[in-house]
Amino acid sequence: MTGPASSPGGAGEPAWGDPAFARAWAAADGLAEFLALPRAIAAAVVALDRPAPRLVVDVASGPGAFLGTFLQRFPAAQGIWLDASAAMLEQARSRLAAFSDRVEFLLGDLTDLSAAGVPDGADAWMTSRALHHLDRTGIAAFYRDATARLAPGGWLVNLDHVGLPGGWSARMRAVRPEFAPTNAATGSAAHRHPEALATVDDHLASLAAAGVQDPGVPWRALHVALMMGRTAST
Ligand SMILES: C[S@@+](CC[C@H](N)C(=O)[O-])C[C@H]1O[C@@H](n2cnc3c(N)ncnc32)[C@H](O)[C@@H]1O
Repeated sequence: MTGPASSPGGAGEPAWGDPAFARAWAAADGLAEFLALPRAIAAAVVALDRPAPRLVVDVASGPGAFLGTFLQRFPAAQGIWLDASAAMLEQARSRLAAFSDRVEFLLGDLTDLSAAGVPDGADAWMTSRALHHLDRTGIAAFYRDATARLAPGGWLVNLDHVGLPGGWSARMRAVRPEFAPTNAATGSAAHRHPEALATVDDHLASLAAAGVQDPGVPWRALHVALMMGRTAST
């Protein structure tokens, strides 16, 4: 997969387009179960004011766990799976088989949403573990683009790796293996050093600048945070 240098999949980043790599990454994803709780919290928060969403979109969805959580929680919802990797599409078709009549699969780049073909007016857009590969400008641009495509009052959700201040990055790296094993397919070296990543404060500021109201952090642990908020209702 190619893309702008600042986008996921750029030089030095994992080869998401390689079917063998995509399979190996999904099989060895040490955070998959650990993140079940924040995915469920995100869906529960959305349900508070949108109990029956019509359309939800998962960007850089990979094997589709976030989308699956939402489709399970909202049986009347249609889902859009969007990812740049045809190799991940294979993974997702298999893992989302139980929801196949409610999922549309789109191959597209999160840095060019206008070309991706996602319809406007979705109730929620979520993404997980992808935006941290962008720089702060790219993250802000994604938030703006996604917000502009949501229904009034729709939710924008990002479950992502975040930068940590002071000694916290080293501490979290040290304790993480007790809770979530490092993915053997990527190892820690394949990802940018956490200090370079946008912090929770950076994300909240970019969400607010994009028009997300009252952005908040309903869950965080180790180096991962769930950040979400709604667009204005009218
Ligand atoms: C670490 S995986 C996360 C998958 C899933 N969101 C999760 O948390 O389980 C990153 C995903 O982002 C996708 N991706 C990378 N660059 C992308 C881009 N520019 N546009 C869309 N998807 C991209 C990859 O194909 C991969 O499926």
